[in-house]
Amino acid sequence: MLSQRLKFLSMALFFIMLVSGTGFAYADSHERDTKSLYSRLGGLQPISVVVSDFIDVIVVDDTLNANPAIDAARKVVPSAYLKYHVTAMVCQVTGGPCKYHGRTMKDAHSHLNITEKDWQQMVVLFKSVLDKHGVAETEQQELMTIVGSTKAEIVTAP
Ligand code: HEM
Repeated sequence: MLSQRLKFLSMALFFIMLVSGTGFAYADSHERDTKSLYSRLGGLQPISVVVSDFIDVIVVDDTLNANPAIDAARKVVPSAYLKYHVTAMVCQVTGGPCKYHGRTMKDAHSHLNITEKDWQQMVVLFKSVLDKHGVAETEQQELMTIVGSTKAEIVTAP
């Protein structure tokens, strides 16, 4: 009787974990072919957690804040605002249901004098956050491609 109950409980737990999706989901090759990047990342909950961690890491980064324009913006633009916009953007561009209502990448970054060195530092920090959350290599590469597509609008300083 007890072992039957335990069996039932463990099956129920497995099912709950399956449907709730804790953390970024692992995607096998079939899922990769059929599911959006948004779904393979596990949807809005894990995306918002990873974006939140990423913003927390970049706003205190000494290398980025050595750029006076970035440092000045950090002091006046709330992290919560950036987290909101970046989450909506990642959700939208990965195929999720959100709508990004922020500025273009050119308008949001043109006053920041972002250099190639700043960009490379951001990429290193982004990768470290994705690694920390166990995002699979294929999904990391797809995210990097999306981020990379914004580079020409963001890196404006020599
Ligand atoms: C070295 C790279 C980057 C740095 C240093 C940086 C820094 C910043 C800063 C300081 C702001 C606030 C600007 C202000 O309101 O005065 C901002 C806004 C924003 N950034 Fe970045 N950013 C970088 C790359 C990116 C990338 C790759 C994305 C997304 C693909 C992104 C998405 C955004 C968004 C959505 C906003 C808010 C737009 C709005 O206010 O409407 N940023 N960024």
